[in-house]
Amino acid sequence: MTRLTTCLDAESVAERAAAHVTRQLQRAKEERGLAHVALSGGTTPGRTYELLAREPGLWDEVHVWFADERCVAPDDPESNYLLAEQSLLSPASIPAERVHRMRGELGPEEGAAAYAREIGEHLPSIAGGPPVLDLIVLGIGPDGHVASLFPGAETLDAGEGAICLGVHDSPKPPPERITLSLAVLRAARGCLLLANGTSKADAVSAMLGEESRHVPASLLRRERLTLIVDDDAAPPGPRP
Ligand code: 6PG
Repeated sequence: MTRLTTCLDAESVAERAAAHVTRQLQRAKEERGLAHVALSGGTTPGRTYELLAREPGLWDEVHVWFADERCVAPDDPESNYLLAEQSLLSPASIPAERVHRMRGELGPEEGAAAYAREIGEHLPSIAGGPPVLDLIVLGIGPDGHVASLFPGAETLDAGEGAICLGVHDSPKPPPERITLSLAVLRAARGCLLLANGTSKADAVSAMLGEESRHVPASLLRRERLTLIVDDDAAPPGPRP
């Protein structure tokens, strides 16, 4: 079952999300000596990253990965890396050797292949399955996309062996992107999905309904999913 928390506003979402990430990273470090977290871009998680940058010691032994990237240079205002860099990586002084950037400037295919190789060098897979991240932080589009896995896209059929994929026709600009595969999202020990605002309400309700390729967020492993939303994005019904 998905754990759903509804908060009063976007600031409370960010506070709850930062507390969740903190707990999951601490737990991974206690259990395995290090932690692997993947970040998303977009407008929603920035405040969470800012709060997380203030946690002393939290980022020791943590490797930072990305759920997706736009095919732009890392200093482009559209870059997901730039958002993370400004809100978290630089303020928390996370050393470059523990930050694994998707190289969007290489283009979708080359960038995805390079990232799959880098993941293979650092991340354990269990019993030959996909590599296992401790936590993936996700936003959701009004169309139900997560990372750069869009409704009905071929990338959703890439199979268990796919780690990282190139995207050429993203309906959300820019069209060229790199994304972790659905298999990697599903293999993670946890996914944390954040949603704020009325424009996300239908997508949040849809992802909690039947699994569908037309709502990629509905394909996440529900028992490993934590959903934190504000009142405006919350599904109808009593507030949990
Ligand atoms: C991206 C993302 C994408 C994002 C959602 C939500 O590169 O755009 O990683 O999956 O998380 O589109 O975006 P907002 O937070 O801006 O609504």
